[in-house]
Amino acid sequence: MNSPEFIILCELLDRDPAFVSGTTLARKLGLSRVAVWMHMGKLRAQGFEFEAVRNHGYRIRRPPGALNPLLVQAYLRPRRQPVDLLWLPDIDSTNAEAERQLAAARPTPFVVLAQRQSRGRGRFGRVWHSAGPGDLYASFVFRPRLEPGRMTTFTLWMGASLCDLVAKFCRIQPGLKWPNDLYFQGRKFGGMLTEARVDADQIRDLVFGLGLNVNSPADSLPPALARQATSLSACTGEPVDLNRLTAAIVGCVYSAYEQFVEGSFRDTFADLWNRYDLLRGQAVTLLHGPRQVTGIAGGIDDEGSLLIRSGNGRPQRFSAGEVTLERTEP
Ligand code: BTN
Repeated sequence: MNSPEFIILCELLDRDPAFVSGTTLARKLGLSRVAVWMHMGKLRAQGFEFEAVRNHGYRIRRPPGALNPLLVQAYLRPRRQPVDLLWLPDIDSTNAEAERQLAAARPTPFVVLAQRQSRGRGRFGRVWHSAGPGDLYASFVFRPRLEPGRMTTFTLWMGASLCDLVAKFCRIQPGLKWPNDLYFQGRKFGGMLTEARVDADQIRDLVFGLGLNVNSPADSLPPALARQATSLSACTGEPVDLNRLTAAIVGCVYSAYEQFVEGSFRDTFADLWNRYDLLRGQAVTLLHGPRQVTGIAGGIDDEGSLLIRSGNGRPQRFSAGEVTLERTEP
């Protein structure tokens, strides 16, 4: 059942920028105006600022800058299916929490969102810096019932879909660094980490983790990251509406997932990847275990493997590894 705070919020959003009278809200909720005032106090405690004008009522002056689950849910209302969102102010890792929720048999799909992570996980056992609260830490959880072999393009497809969304939402030209990094002008602003549990011949469950630096100020980054990382607000030069962006991302990931499972993603995958591929035609070095290969990146194949041509040989395919761009001095 929707909480009184959610009902008040939806009413104010639907009428914005008009005012909504206390009497209208009280009637809608079946409560007294004093009770409405108290519920608005709870929203204020979450960071909402309201304008209250005698004989007119209330309207939202400023929504919270931090991630707010009620606001994200309110922005997700146009969706056909409701979204099961689990919001936590502080957690070790949203991917770890997703696994605990799966172990407790929470029905899928669901999304875990956090304001901060104390042990955000990155690839290769690295830590994902997660000081929040202006950034996005999210895990999307599905039970795809697909053969494991079908998953080779999953993270790439998600990355291409998210890059397209960020391009439109922020009006910037981001790029993808195979296989899981989101970049803008040579700096990373986002990373993806897909973790799956596999039964004999089927994916049992899948956790798609996404970390995006959205509004974190440049000086909040640890020195080791400061020269390589950026945030979307630094890219656009203005604060980014984290709650609207989060709702748009949830919608994007859910629909990209459906297209992936149906197989219809194949119609657009190659074009979308090529539009945002940062590596194609660039000199790169790939590290994979003890192997190191340097050459020119030539895009990806149908399985999502990276193609690298060294010397005059045929391109070699790599399904995993870490790529660095070879910077040529001017
Ligand atoms: C990488 O670039 O190495 C991947 C980083 C993925 C970080 C996100 S933040 C939300 C989710 N929870 C985690 O613990 N990790 C992912």
